[in-house]
Amino acid sequence: MGTTGREADEIKVLLEAVYLRHGFDYRNYAMASLRRRVHKVLDESGIKQIIDLVPAIWNDDKVASDFLRVMSIPVTEMFRDPPFFIELREKVLPILETYPFIKIWHAGCATGEEVLSMAILLREAGLEKRVRIYATDYNDQVLKAAKEGIYSMDKIPLFESNYQDAQGKGKLSDYYHARYDQAKFDPELLSNVTFANHNLVTDGVFGEMNLILCRNVLIYFNKELQQRVFRLITDSLCPRGILGLGNGESLRFSPLARHYEHIDASLRLYRKKL
Ligand SMILES: C[S@@+](CC[C@H](N)C(=O)[O-])C[C@H]1O[C@@H](n2cnc3c(N)ncnc32)[C@H](O)[C@@H]1O
Repeated sequence: MGTTGREADEIKVLLEAVYLRHGFDYRNYAMASLRRRVHKVLDESGIKQIIDLVPAIWNDDKVASDFLRVMSIPVTEMFRDPPFFIELREKVLPILETYPFIKIWHAGCATGEEVLSMAILLREAGLEKRVRIYATDYNDQVLKAAKEGIYSMDKIPLFESNYQDAQGKGKLSDYYHARYDQAKFDPELLSNVTFANHNLVTDGVFGEMNLILCRNVLIYFNKELQQRVFRLITDSLCPRGILGLGNGESLRFSPLARHYEHIDASLRLYRKKL
């Protein structure tokens, strides 16, 4: 079902209130996804009308924090989209290997599974000592979980099969200790990682990166905001730096595409031109 004019207007009023009262700017997120999220908040809160969420979000911190949680969608997995990690291993690491020091930024890192996957890839390539990784998200709760590197054992079979499909060199269990129903990953893997709060909508450049992964984040943004983030990413990459996007995300229709060449078009890997 599409969004009616009135519903879209109510969502816009709500987003203005969220921005004014709490400083989070969702005004340029994609409407279809916004609508689904707003209805989820309505279902969870028992509030019937979108417009009634405005005073609730303004006055009730619990409703506000629930709204921010629902908006964040930190769905992720280790070695998500395994062919992407094969491309990273085969096409990107040989480039990074030629640098004395490597800076990598995971923008929208959620609970950290992508960061750990990268750390494992770098260790298996013998590069981990030469790397500094920045992992950012605007959601403090997921950053806290990402720093811990502890995941439910229920998730491990999927992570293990992704790792094998990504042509991992060993077994995923080489990298974690299982305790009861949780897997704790080797803290050394995260020792070169700086976790930080960064909002792609309102915050600035992250300087001179050799590789930026911003996967499965832009799909939630409208075209205008996607352009802003592409600009931010382009300004944050060093010359010949590499950008990895998620499936379903592309630079194709962006005016900034002229600054890039493909490493592998289908898998969303781009290299910035000089
Ligand atoms: C679907 S997850 C993607 C995680 C990981 N990159 C992956 O591909 O598996 C999207 C993440 O983007 C974050 N995000 C959404 N809007 C953001 C913004 N404006 N600034 C920074 N992070 C944002 C969410 O909090 C969420 O953790």
